[in-house]
Amino acid sequence: MTTGMKLKQFLLHEKRAGVDLSYDLIELIHEVSITCKEINATVSRGELSGVLGVAGSENVQGETQKELDIITNDIMVDHMKFTGLVAGMGSEEVDDPIVVPAVERGEYLLMFDPLDGSSNIDVNISVGTIFSVLKAPMGCRAEPKLEDYYQKGTQQKAAGFVVYGPATVLVLTTGQGVNMFTLDTRIGEFVLTTEGCQIPDETTEYAINMANKRFWEKPMLQYIEDCLAGEKGPLGKRYNMRWVASMVAEVYRILVRGGIFMYPYDDRDPSKAGKLRLMYEANPMSFIVEQAGGASSTGRERILDVDATGLHQRVPVVLGSKAEVEKVVEYHLKSGTEAA
Ligand code: AHG
Ligand code: MN
Ligand code: MN
Repeated sequence: MTTGMKLKQFLLHEKRAGVDLSYDLIELIHEVSITCKEINATVSRGELSGVLGVAGSENVQGETQKELDIITNDIMVDHMKFTGLVAGMGSEEVDDPIVVPAVERGEYLLMFDPLDGSSNIDVNISVGTIFSVLKAPMGCRAEPKLEDYYQKGTQQKAAGFVVYGPATVLVLTTGQGVNMFTLDTRIGEFVLTTEGCQIPDETTEYAINMANKRFWEKPMLQYIEDCLAGEKGPLGKRYNMRWVASMVAEVYRILVRGGIFMYPYDDRDPSKAGKLRLMYEANPMSFIVEQAGGASSTGRERILDVDATGLHQRVPVVLGSKAEVEKVVEYHLKSGTEAA
């Protein structure tokens, strides 16, 4: 019986049971969980923190940064920099890789989105932190080069996210299934509450921002039209729709009860391949979803196989219940060369 174990205790237990986990990786995950407790403490104070609202600056992708995007980024950077576990970091909020002092460098690269869903922060809807761990190819002493970060999602050593919702939950994979740890605020520890999450194969619930409909490609338009046609349409099912605008909350829901989440390609800005970022949103979420028995695709390619070419590279995302994701991929393959 492992439910009830604390996060680090559980990871050490898994290592003793033969799972391939280094002590440094266990320590790194534990340190990330500490920063997430700090982010949780900050976020949960809401208006009391005096930091809600727009900070006035824009991040490297031209998005307006909220005070909390910056604050939570700094919480992560300032803590992880001095753990001796990371060689360098990449954050949604920082253009270039974050340099770790030589003496503090460890064997791993950490990619993160410090505050996902931050447009929801002022309206008190769930937000979260997403992270992905890669091995630093040069080992622990050299300063990582930009290309060292360009690894496929299949090379991730661990991935996780914390959702700051009614309960604060850390979802984690190290490549041996997916486990969930709920923050027990009485003792300040993440405690294992769900072991071996499995996403149901089939679903009747989809999540997509319908406001972008006119910008989609044909296969996506067709799939959604067929969903809307319900039991009388070609998919033969009555669907329900959700859109939280926090990927962490959407993926959490899918892990609990199945579903499909899509942020497809759209031609609002043809220079962008999608909205979501590969290295710290799509890759970690895809690793988690696949480890829970689901699937994740751009519509045409498995996300974990996408070549990384930029720290902030964007990618279309279709993830969740396996059979439903496969259907969406079929729509794309059928439409073949018509599509971009
Ligand atoms: P972030 O807050 O880190 O920029 O990410 C927000 C993402 C994701 O969480 C969500 O699914 C999507 O953007 C929402 O986009 P829309 O506002 O276009 O619906
Ligand atoms: Mn995000
Ligand atoms: Mn963010």
